[in-house]
Amino acid sequence: MISRRQFTQSLSALAVSASTGVLNAATEASSIEAAETDAARQIAPAKDSSPFRLGIIGAGSRGQELIRSFLRVPGVSVAAAADVYEPRFAQLNRICGHEVAPHKDYRALLDRKDLDAVIVATPLGLHGEHVVAALSSGHHVYGEKVMAYTVEQANAIVAAASENKRIYQIGHQYRYSPWIRAAVQRVQQGEIGDVTHIIGYWHRNNDWRRPVPDPSLEHLINWRLYHQWSLGLIAELGSHHMDIANWVFGEYPEAALASGSICRYHDGRETDDNVQAILSYSGGRRFIFTSITDNAKMGDQLWLYGTKGSLNLTLQDATFFYEPKKITKPVVAANGKDEGVVTSASYNPSNEMPYRGPGKPVDVSTAEDPTTAATRAFIYCVRTGTSPIADAKVGLGSALGVIQANESLRLRKEIPISSKA
Ligand SMILES: NC(=O)c1ccc[n+]([C@@H]2O[C@H](COP(=O)([O-])OP(=O)(O)OC[C@H]3O[C@@H](n4cnc5c(N)ncnc54)[C@H](O)[C@@H]3O)[C@@H](O)[C@H]2O)c1
Repeated sequence: MISRRQFTQSLSALAVSASTGVLNAATEASSIEAAETDAARQIAPAKDSSPFRLGIIGAGSRGQELIRSFLRVPGVSVAAAADVYEPRFAQLNRICGHEVAPHKDYRALLDRKDLDAVIVATPLGLHGEHVVAALSSGHHVYGEKVMAYTVEQANAIVAAASENKRIYQIGHQYRYSPWIRAAVQRVQQGEIGDVTHIIGYWHRNNDWRRPVPDPSLEHLINWRLYHQWSLGLIAELGSHHMDIANWVFGEYPEAALASGSICRYHDGRETDDNVQAILSYSGGRRFIFTSITDNAKMGDQLWLYGTKGSLNLTLQDATFFYEPKKITKPVVAANGKDEGVVTSASYNPSNEMPYRGPGKPVDVSTAEDPTTAATRAFIYCVRTGTSPIADAKVGLGSALGVIQANESLRLRKEIPISSKA
């Protein structure tokens, strides 16, 4: 089992004295608090309302949701959009309440000199090309997850943000959710002991398929179902959970082992309709992700298991559960006499029952939608030149896990994770 020392070292190198390597608890606590103060500043209501003009590449479902969020930030307007699917322009105009300059080719949008930042919300297979081009042409970027489809592309995005000194924020909006931040901070401070396992469920009961007006548009509309554009459920759903696992464990995963199949929807799709993935971290710690698409009982929830308790995270709340002091009763002979082995390792039905103690919800003052907070924080970061909470390093971590978990699905073996392509 990983020690508290190892855990905290990986959490923040800053918490360790450079000369001795000895953990400084006070430094650790203050570095967690400093991160929270910085996050609170980014998420706070905007004070600045100076004009801020956005461009968007890929104004589909998520792109439009992002625009609705961005328009809530004082001063923000949408100046231009690039999309290869014509109906998107009229949809966007309705949301914005005015004509947004349309571009069929994203490069024409990037040639504009009147944009303060660009949103990239195209299918995953195109993120690398679109985000690198946007950063390299001098634009700050809010880029949807997953960062990129290949390790090379993910590294190219990290390099382009750094070399061009541009802000890149990845669409892992749960990092901006007040109840998740508050809960993770308490976990980092040791509230549930050493966290060794994180299990993410994202279960749905629908086929993930969208209606297509013309068969020639099948790949454009249902890109999630095809390998050329998509890394499947691990990318589209699991990446959010994996990002939280990276955050809590304080490092990127070391290896990925995944399995999946097309179990229910035999409709020509290529990506699996159910997946199971195990991501390994140092000290034997594990993040385990499961997604099925024909039963929604478990919904979307993440469980963090620590030696002293558990944390349940959902899209609306966070709840702590604490391990009972004594969690096992030893096995005794049926006649009640002690006449042999007495152990808590053996089977005893009462020991195997799920612990149903009362949970303690995390109390936060706001249940604001995380995307609203994330988009507001991005505008703050660009306006003030602040590095985002969910920056390129955050994006790289979940991208590496997603990409190599898919490699594991393909090759049917465990894949080591490295940022070297
Ligand atoms: N952060 C989140 O919670 C969240 C939620 C949903 C989707 N997403 C991400 O957002 C991205 C988009 O997902 P979506 O559901 O909006 O997909 P979508 O298909 O609804 O939208 C994608 C848009 O990109 C356009 N497009 C395709 N090729 C293009 C090109 N070459 N140039 C310009 N535009 C092009 C499409 O026409 C479409 O309008 C994905 O990466 C997805 O994972 C993130």
